[in-house]
Amino acid sequence: MTITVIGAGYVGLVTAAVFAELGNKVYCVDVIKDKIDELKRGEVPFFEPMLSDYIKKNLKEKRLFFTTSYSESVPKSKTVFICVGTPPKTNGEADLSFLFSALRQTAKNLSGYTLITIKSTIPIGYEDDLEETVRKYAKEKFEFAASPEFLREGTAIADTLHPDRIVIGSSSKKAQKMLLELHAPISGERIITDMRSAQLIKYASNALLATKVSFANSIAILCEKMNANVTKVLAGVGADRRIGHPFLYPGVGYGGSCLPKDVLAFIAQSTRFDYDFELLRAVDSINNDQIERFINKIREALEAKEGKRINLDGFSLAILGLAFKPNTDDMRDAPSIKIINRLIDLGAKITAHDPRAMVNAKKILPHVTYATDISKAIQGKDALVIVTEWPQFAQLDLKQVKKLLKKPIIIDGRNLFNAQKIKEAGFKYVGIGQ
Ligand code: UDX
Repeated sequence: MTITVIGAGYVGLVTAAVFAELGNKVYCVDVIKDKIDELKRGEVPFFEPMLSDYIKKNLKEKRLFFTTSYSESVPKSKTVFICVGTPPKTNGEADLSFLFSALRQTAKNLSGYTLITIKSTIPIGYEDDLEETVRKYAKEKFEFAASPEFLREGTAIADTLHPDRIVIGSSSKKAQKMLLELHAPISGERIITDMRSAQLIKYASNALLATKVSFANSIAILCEKMNANVTKVLAGVGADRRIGHPFLYPGVGYGGSCLPKDVLAFIAQSTRFDYDFELLRAVDSINNDQIERFINKIREALEAKEGKRINLDGFSLAILGLAFKPNTDDMRDAPSIKIINRLIDLGAKITAHDPRAMVNAKKILPHVTYATDISKAIQGKDALVIVTEWPQFAQLDLKQVKKLLKKPIIIDGRNLFNAQKIKEAGFKYVGIGQ
């Protein structure tokens, strides 16, 4: 099948690469010419395991094409996937300007019946606006479907090839048939529904994932107060098959390009539909509070007291991990940004290391010294702070770390280390919920 994917971000590029790999002819369109030129050369603008290989292979085999031109791609396509960003506005609602712009351009270039499949996460209630926008410019028959993505950064290709479910949201039998055919080589349960329900599946899923994380963080707070061990407590809770282990790991709070923005957008649209989503407001607020709780842990560990004021003047800290999670270079809504800015505000000097995200971090966090390797980051610092749980950090040689640090203090925002072992190695260790 020939398809067009609009938007060369995470979702668009992964969607385009996977459908091309499965034998389809795929055009990927973006308005940023430089980005398209790079992609034509096989250069991916961010790090995502396997993506670059898939893109290079399918470019070479002439199944994947990058262009800025809607007229080159849309008329040849049976379906157009809309994968543009829907960033948050200041009131938390999703900004749909990229979406409407993509729809106008698509509408002007339709040739024959075309299915417009929305992958972007868009709030409920705009279906008529989408329809009207396209109808205004389209001379051909078209229909809409929603088919949300559930890919996680770091495992995006595998998640797209082997998803838990494929959601097809359209009341049109023709649209359903086309999307079922396109997804035939991909595993996963099929959930066929109307467009609104499909959009709601996406918001409700991300909201529940965020809820699990904030729940885990609340239990961690209680474990600290009650002198219990959160790792054991949540292992016991997650062992119940009705609950499950994933997303029950406490830390410095959830971040990234989806969970924080989707939670806020879901709260905002619930309000528009006259429902106060109290539960989600609490989830968001617990997540925000995690940052200050973590800062307090650092201050307490350093015994940074100066009269009544507690600040971090004169302290130098090594931060390991900047990306919002491991296996990505993505800094969008990364907890490290708030943590580091707050530490700098309090007077601390920060040296940071991340295996992938330092190039992006430098643009957002200019007042940080960046270390090319872990030893350089740690050397001579008052404490080591773990913010992102890259697996290689867990392999650190503790004897070496102890020699390099000025004081043997580790504040671990992801419970990456075994508390007992670290303490036995002579460190003062502060984790989350233990
Ligand atoms: C998420 C959704 O998982 C995906 O389905 C959706 O399509 C896009 O948003 P992603 O943003 O890549 O994917 O990251 P995810 O793996 O979900 O992690 C989100 C955040 O939650 C990260 O900051 C992570 O560190 C945090 N998290 C996750 C926890 O703090 N604890 C956990 O137990 C799990």
